Parts: sequence; C-alpha cells; structure tokens
Amino acid sequence: MKAVQIKNYGASEVLTFIENLPVPAISDNQVLVNNYATGLNPHDIYLRKGMLAPILEESLPIIPGLDIAGKIVMVGKDVKKFKAGDMVYGMMDANESFSSSGFAKTGAYAEYSVTREDTLSFIPNGISATEAASIPLVALTAYQALTKKAEAKADQKIAINGASGGVGSMAIQIAHYLKLEVTAVCHTDTNEFVSKLHPKNIINYDQDDFTAGSDKYDIIFDVAGNKSYDLCKDNLTETGLYISNVPTENTFKAYHNPEKENIFGFHNKNRYNWVLPSGEDLEEISKLLISRHIKPVVTKVFDFHAVQEAHSYMEQNIARGKVVLDLKPES
Ligand SMILES: NC(=O)c1ccc[n+]([C@@H]2O[C@H](COP(=O)([O-])OP(=O)(O)OC[C@H]3O[C@@H](n4cnc5c(N)ncnc54)[C@H](OP(=O)(O)O)[C@@H]3O)[C@@H](O)[C@H]2O)c1
Repeated sequence: MKAVQIKNYGASEVLTFIENLPVPAISDNQVLVNNYATGLNPHDIYLRKGMLAPILEESLPIIPGLDIAGKIVMVGKDVKKFKAGDMVYGMMDANESFSSSGFAKTGAYAEYSVTREDTLSFIPNGISATEAASIPLVALTAYQALTKKAEAKADQKIAINGASGGVGSMAIQIAHYLKLEVTAVCHTDTNEFVSKLHPKNIINYDQDDFTAGSDKYDIIFDVAGNKSYDLCKDNLTETGLYISNVPTENTFKAYHNPEKENIFGFHNKNRYNWVLPSGEDLEEISKLLISRHIKPVVTKVFDFHAVQEAHSYMEQNIARGKVVLDLKPES
C-alpha cells in the first residue's frame, strides 16, 4: 500500500512517500479502513520532529496521523457494529487495547489503517470523507474538554484562547450548542475567519490581553496553551475552571500520578485535557453534524504526494480551521 513514513526525526523533508508497504493485519476487535482522507494535526508535526520520542511506545519508522475517514474493507471476528463497505471516520488507535499511557497509536497517512471498532463512527450523510477527516481529533478534544473536564452548563461564560485553529473552531461551535457565552481570543489576522463562527465577543490577542482586564469567565479553555493557570486565575469566577490543552512537564507528572494532582497544581480549578479516541463520543459529535450545530471547517486540502508541503504550510501558522490530506483511491 501507499503510505508516508517518518524514518528519521526532522524537518518536513523526512516525510517519505512509500509505494509498496504491506497492508497491516487486523486483530479480532479491529477493522481495516481504506482511507479517503486524513486530517492534519500539530501532533503529527511534534511526532515528526521527535518531540514525542521520549514518551512514545514505538520506534521508527512510524506512519504518522490519527484522523481517518474512509471505507471499511475488513472486520475482525469480534466486530459487531461495522461491516465491510461502511463509510466511517475516527481518531484511530492501532493499539489492540487502550494504552495505559493514553497514547493512541498512529498510522493515518496511509492507504489502509487499522483501528479498534470502539474508535469509529459512521460518516453522517451529507458529510464528505474530506470533511469527516477534519473532525475527529479536534472535535473530540473540544467535546471532551467542555462536557467532561468542564461539565459546562448553559449560560456560563467561556474564553477560548486559540479560537481560529482546529480545536478552537470546534470549541466555539460546541460551546454554542451547549448554550455558553463565547469570547474567542485570536490574532487580528484571523478575526474575520473567527467572526464567521459568531462568538459573542472577539479579543485580538495582538491588541488586547484577555487576562489583563477584570472580565471573569466560568471556563477558560487555553487551546493555544500560552496562558498558564497563574496568568488566568484572576479572570476565573469563584467556581471557574482553567482547562489547558497543551501539556507541560508537570502535566505528565500529574497525569500519571492522579493522587498527586494538588502537588503539581492540577487542583480543581486547573485541569488538563488529554484527548482520547472514542467512537461513543464521536457518535455524539455525529449527531451535532447532522443537526448542523457544528460544521466542518476545512480550509485547505493537499494531495497525498504533497505531504511535505502540507506540513510546511501548517508550520507557518497561517492555517485557519483544518488542513486535510486527500488520500482518495486512484480510479
Ligand atoms: N492535549 C490534547 O489531547 C490535545 C488535543 C488536541 C490538540 N492539542 C494541542 O492543542 C494545540 C492547538 O491544537 P489545534 O489543532 O487547534 O492547532 P492549530 O489548528 O494549529 O491552531 C492553533 C491556534 O493557536 C493560535 N495561536 C497561536 N499563537 C497564539 C497566541 N499567542 N495566543 C492565542 N492563540 C494563538 C493560532 O491562531 P492565530 O492565527 O489566531 O494566532 C492557531 O489557530 C496544539 O498545541 C495541539 O498539539 C492537544
């Protein structure tokens, strides 16, 4: 099969297009998906650069990518929900069982990917594979942050820092579905894009610092990860929560030692959000796509062979919403 591998860590040039890799085998609880598209995420870039190497459970070469959308071509004997021919999407995890480290195993930059049944959902009618591939990781991140970490309730005020990116653009839409009052924080250059998602307020961080004033929020979702809890805490209501999306060294310590949460500053008001692959949560997201509460925000599509160009584009920080790699089978 065709796939892109990382054989050495480094710049986008290390992404190597290969024509003849063996199609991966599946276990009883897994399915084989013929990918039509994959959504790109900062995770892919961190992986390529070797930033995740110290915590990764596998060695090079690695096929990157976590977002898949395509047609099931084979199912394991324990798979109940899906059959060959179904069009599915998901944040894949090639591990046979959920990893205790919380890390999903990659492999989406490929003609065929293996993933567990419990990571997938059917692509809703009217959503293309390209659009579907843009959804899973970012929508799961936003959905799990707002509904599970924050347990958001109607009429609460939320500030979303990093509002124009993949997670931020989903977080705005899911927050609206949850009836939250949204303040979106973005650069002046992305203001126009963000305004089309209709947040109540927009703060351009290159002109104003949302933590400098006296505005209070019930939830501060620091998607960009450049505002610490300490910087945000005076802008939280008495019961307010700060949720970070970007790990620090302390995050990893606290994540693996939940009983030490308070020691590392991860007390009730300061929470870290780690996205988990979940077909069940994706089902809920599918319902929001069907009801049009959320819409895909694909702003750029690259051909499979242009994967290096796609990574370079992502690294320029000029992308809005989502960038997708088109893997459609050649006819
Ligand atoms: N923990 C997890 O499980 C998890 C899950 C998903 C993502 N993440 C992480 O979350 C981060 C965001 O992911 P993403 O997919 O949304 O990335 P993305 O699509 O690249 O978006 C990142 C956004 O950050 C904004 N940004 C850059 N500098 C900023 C600043 N100084 N202040 C405020 N915003 C700023 C950019 O918007 P402007 O152009 O407006 O500056 C950009 O749109 C990444 O680091 C990613 O790895 C973590």
